[in-house]
Amino acid sequence: MPIIIFIRPDRRAERIEAEPGESVMMAAIRHGVDEIVAECGGNAMCATCHVYVDDRWIGRLAAVSDEEDALLDGTASARQPGSRLSCQIKITPELDGLVLRLPERQI
Ligand code: FES
Repeated sequence: MPIIIFIRPDRRAERIEAEPGESVMMAAIRHGVDEIVAECGGNAMCATCHVYVDDRWIGRLAAVSDEEDALLDGTASARQPGSRLSCQIKITPELDGLVLRLPERQI
């Protein structure tokens, strides 16, 4: 199963196993990654599942939709070039080793 690596704001890393086909958000929730709040349950309405994609991975993800792009303008922690909504990133085998930084806050 693909491994996803979350880097917390204090730089502690957590590696989790994700299921292909699920979202990064769902994988994070299943593994108790508390920094992912996901208030809307993955319906692209809350922006509380914000992550920063590591530079080496940005170009390997599917493009940001207009809907996601609009929500990313309203994140609690500042938007950066690698900002994504984790509920909109679908796990594939190619994403094994994906590195995501978690923002300071989601709300
Ligand atoms: S969980 Fe609400 S936008 Fe991702």
